[in-house]
Amino acid sequence: MSNDAILKIKDKEYSLPMIVGSEGETAVDARKLRNQSGCITYDEGYGNTGSCQSDVTYIDGEQGILRYRGYPIDQLALDSDFVETAFLIIYGDLPTSEERAVFAKSLNENASVHARMLHLFEGYPRDAHPMAILSAMVNSLGCYDPHLATNDHKRDLENFSEAAAIAISKVRTIAAVSYRMSQGLPIIYPKIELPYCDNFLHMMFSDPYREYLATPEVSRALNLLLLLHADHEQNCSTSTVRMVASSGANLFASTAAGICALWGPLHGGANMAVIQMLESIHAEGDDGSRFIEAAKSGTGGKRLMGFGHRVYKNFDPRAKIIGKACEELLDSLGIEDPCLDIARHLESAALKDDYFIERKLYPNVDFYSGIVMRAIGIPLNMFTVMFAIGRMPGWIANWKEVASNPKGKIYRPRQIYTGPVKRDYVSMEKR
Ligand code: ACO
Repeated sequence: MSNDAILKIKDKEYSLPMIVGSEGETAVDARKLRNQSGCITYDEGYGNTGSCQSDVTYIDGEQGILRYRGYPIDQLALDSDFVETAFLIIYGDLPTSEERAVFAKSLNENASVHARMLHLFEGYPRDAHPMAILSAMVNSLGCYDPHLATNDHKRDLENFSEAAAIAISKVRTIAAVSYRMSQGLPIIYPKIELPYCDNFLHMMFSDPYREYLATPEVSRALNLLLLLHADHEQNCSTSTVRMVASSGANLFASTAAGICALWGPLHGGANMAVIQMLESIHAEGDDGSRFIEAAKSGTGGKRLMGFGHRVYKNFDPRAKIIGKACEELLDSLGIEDPCLDIARHLESAALKDDYFIERKLYPNVDFYSGIVMRAIGIPLNMFTVMFAIGRMPGWIANWKEVASNPKGKIYRPRQIYTGPVKRDYVSMEKR
């Protein structure tokens, strides 16, 4: 008996092969359907569409499972750090100590941005959004190393490790430079001896007369934050990276497009929106109860930001880890943040509320991440930039899958046209 799916359209049956993933996920392969039947599948928002086969990340949204290259997120959160996890995501396996040292060295050696590139920052207004600057600068990286950005995937892959190290290392430097410029502060250059996260904090917060030294708690919290954001399979930004890469575009152009996709409040921009929501709840003297009612009725377009997820329908494992880390960090720093109390109240009230239960809406990764970033001293408009720094390894791994696939096709969905049917042109005098 065939394992194919049978689709009946009017009176005719079509046999569609099944694809099964390594965790038993199944898909109906509809690639040949249009040629056979003239019909396309329709799935606005792609909620039920597999756009690729990927070895990087596995999510089971019903059970709240997230694994990078097979490793459960809670184990990595406990015992790994961002640099090791970035290596795992990009190269497929945990590094040996030698591989880790080589990788860390290449990140350190690639930390500085080109001197001529620094002038580009000066052209932006002080209040320019750092996500706009980040995407422009990441795309520009290819101009300074054109041998890494040929838009010929075969050639770009020959230098892949160098390009990946540049992207991961410089995205952090670009972020710090844009922050310093926005504040009218002198640029702080990276220090080769510092680990990845400490180096970022140094570039953000040191000044020429006083060096910022990250405490182990802050360093650990930032590592955890970036690690938890490092990949999340075919979300809006990663799909964008793959879409752009599918045309043959280089790593920097593709990941810059991912940064743009991440910016919106329904995706990475939600971490900013959560803090804005918590602050406005606090300013209005609400404990969150009034806001929940408004979010349920959709009054004023309100949503409980940091809640809900297209894939997680039980809980987001990242939110559990980050919620705990958030409390530990605030305790260790002696910070009392009223937003944390409001967030806890919102969470417990929403989890008991039929509206959220019926729709399977749970806190997502953005719900507590903003409170962690605020405690570290990251300004609000940099929150989504932090997400982008964390997501860079995932975007790079996905770019590599597209670039390495010899049978890869350009991403080109179809549509159902709903505009006017054919009509004849009418000259201006007769209109
Ligand atoms: N608050 C209130 N109601 C919500 C929320 C929310 N946060 N999220 C979804 N709903 C409701 C919708 O109104 C809809 O209700 P209805 O069936 O009565 O019309 C139902 O739940 C389904 O919502 P959709 O928008 O169809 O779900 P979708 O999967 O398309 O959207 C999304 C997922 C965008 C994450 C959504 O839940 C949302 O807007 N959440 C708030 C923004 C946010 O936190 N984004 C970050 C996501 S994680 C990330 O990108 C890293």
